[in-house]
Parts: sequence; structure tokens; C-alpha cells
Amino acid sequence: GLNDQEWQQVLTMWGKVESDLAGHGHAVLMRLFQDHPETMDRFDKFRGLKTPDQMRGSEDMKKHGVTVLTQLGKILKQKGHHESELKPLAQTHATKHRVPVKYLEFICEAIMKVIAEKHSADFGANCQAAMKKALELFRHDMASRYKEFGFQG
Ligand code: HEM
Repeated sequence: GLNDQEWQQVLTMWGKVESDLAGHGHAVLMRLFQDHPETMDRFDKFRGLKTPDQMRGSEDMKKHGVTVLTQLGKILKQKGHHESELKPLAQTHATKHRVPVKYLEFICEAIMKVIAEKHSADFGANCQAAMKKALELFRHDMASRYKEFGFQG
């Protein structure tokens, strides 16, 4: 787990993300789909988006970015005691959306990159390490839940 100081670094940084949740969320999804185009196949609703320009202009993608980062923020704010927030998310992503753990790793990488781009001055080595640990904990606990739902991910 993370110690108090690490959680504080994570949540202080998350406060900066929340200053423009839509901008960050949209950038995260753009980055995910650019770096790993196969992840886009999971989304029926983004099927019509073919070019980076279409993605950039998509209100629907921006909206989904807010949905994702809002839920992730709720989870991070539990500082590891996130079972009740995580379980329903693991359930839909395992049984309905069928999102492999590898794809969760990809989106976590995209989140790290977007924060590094937008907040380079405030995202020093310690803060990066704390955020990485928090996202690893999230993924680890998602993966354990996936197994309970019979999804090897
Ligand atoms: C829907 C959060 C990663 C695919 C959702 C929803 C939330 C959410 C809150 C709406 C409620 C629900 O269906 O459970 C997150 C978080 C993620 C994450 C916090 C990790 C940080 C991913 C990844 C993929 C994915 C990596 C696929 C590559 C989907 C799909 C939907 C969805 C297909 C349904 C979209 C729709 O048609 O409205 N996600 N998600 N998610 N997610 Fe995720």
C-alpha cells in the first residue's frame, strides 16, 4: 500500500486534474486510442471516429473521459479502502465490456503521460512514483475482482 504522504501527493495532484476533468479525460482517451488502437474496438459508441481530428472534436468522447476520471477520482479518494467503489466497476468491465487487465495498464500509462504533459512542473519523481503506486493498486484489485467474476482478463 501507500503511506500517508504518498496518498497526499496523489490526491494533491488529482486536485489539479479536477481543475479540468473534461480536458484531461479527453486527452487520456485520445492517448489510449492513439497508442493502442485495438482498445477502441471495445467501444461500440466510438465506432464512427476514424481520425484524430474526429476524436478531438467528439463531445461524446469528452463526456466519456469525464465519466472515467470521475470514477477513478472517487476510487483514489478512498486511499485504498475502495472495495465498494471498485466492485461494480470490476463487474461491468469484466462481464459486460470485457476489458483485459492489459488495457487497464494501457489507460494507466495514458493517465501518467497526460498528467506529465499538463503538469510537468508539479509532477516530480516522488509524485510520479506515488501516482504509479496508486494506479498499480487499483489495477491489482481490479484484477483480483475480475477473477471472482470468472474473467481471466
Ligand atoms: C464504461 C470507468 C477503463 C471500456 C465505463 C463507465 C465507467 C468507467 C464509470 C460507465 C459505467 C460502467 O459501465 O461501469 C473506467 C475507469 C477505467 C476504465 C475508472 C480505468 C481507469 C476502461 C478501459 C476500457 C473501458 C481501459 C477499454 C479499453 C469501457 C466501455 C464502457 C465503459 C466499453 C461502456 C461505454 C458505453 O457504451 O457507454 N468505464 N473505465 N474502460 N468502459 Fe471503462
